Amino acid sequence: MKKILVTGALGQIGSELTMNLREKYGNDNVIASGLNKKESKVIETGPFEIVDVTNAQQIADIVKKHKVDWIINLAAILSAVGENKPTLAWNVNMGGLFNILEVAREENLGVFTPSSIAAFGPSTPKDETPQDTIQRPNTMYGVTKVSGEILCDYYYEKYGVDTRGVRFPGLISHETLPGGGTTDYAVHIYYEALKNGEFTCPLKKGTKMDMMYMPDAINAIVDLLEADPSKLKHRNAFNVTAMSFDPEEIYREIKKRMPEFKMDYNVKPELQKIADSWPNSLDDTQAKKQWDWNPRYDLSAMTDDMLEKLRKKLDIK
Ligand code: NAD
Ligand code: SER
Repeated sequence: MKKILVTGALGQIGSELTMNLREKYGNDNVIASGLNKKESKVIETGPFEIVDVTNAQQIADIVKKHKVDWIINLAAILSAVGENKPTLAWNVNMGGLFNILEVAREENLGVFTPSSIAAFGPSTPKDETPQDTIQRPNTMYGVTKVSGEILCDYYYEKYGVDTRGVRFPGLISHETLPGGGTTDYAVHIYYEALKNGEFTCPLKKGTKMDMMYMPDAINAIVDLLEADPSKLKHRNAFNVTAMSFDPEEIYREIKKRMPEFKMDYNVKPELQKIADSWPNSLDDTQAKKQWDWNPRYDLSAMTDDMLEKLRKKLDIK
């Protein structure tokens, strides 16, 4: 039975992943952790510890206390916040990852760390971006993501630490709001459609980016964790995607179901610059070949589910 420590467990991914892993492996086998406590199902349903990933001793103490054998490292500063606070982004994303890899080396643990479409940059081929290609990102978040991929590969090759990761696109979910990224608009648009019937988009028409609905993202993590290591030619990190759209396409999809919905634009140049440096669409053939990656939700199925779940959550008829 795996004992898993999840860092950053109260964030957008962690709040859903922790619940999913607890159902699968048992509540006591999934130790959630975060910077602070706050009201959350994650804290109510199983062990929770305060862990700041920039504090190596704190990580080591909790790993030993709970006899952890896998760390899923979700503690991070995302792209938009990272551009405003680059030192914090470096310290958390790289310093935190280094601390986790060191504990993993000493205690013989596996480590899962998500990378991102942000690990690519303006000189990367934009369409059907290959698994192995040019990675010269021009954001601090992207710099930490590509450096993190390389560091995780280094720990696997030099010390045999079982490191695995995926390059997530923008993730869309209804449980916990996103933490300050460039793709956040694709979550906020659903909330605003239901609450106010209108949305002001911070990115311009034609800005295509890869996206994925959270249930597929959770499956990607679980499937890669359970994948046969002898079949993995890549490790850090696999391209995964489920759909690619621009603001007009998601707007039209919502409008089909809510004909009164309106959208206008107020482009934020700092966000637009980040979005323009990322791919339009990823090629995820290697994830499909090596560990049977297979997303279930396209834009239409996601929109049906998001609107249904958010109507209930926001108590809107
Ligand atoms: P999030 O911002 O929602 O959650 C991150 C959590 O980390 C927050 O709860 C925050 O409090 C915590 N944190 C910040 N500093 C910390 C520290 N020093 N120690 C411990 N915890 C700290 O982020 P998320 O969307 O859940 O992302 C998780 C991972 O997935 C990140 O590595 C992110 O880069 C990656 N990812 C996310 C997306 C997405 O669209 N959500 C896309 C690609 C990659
Ligand atoms: N959703 C993330 C961001 O925009 C992608 O890594 O920062």
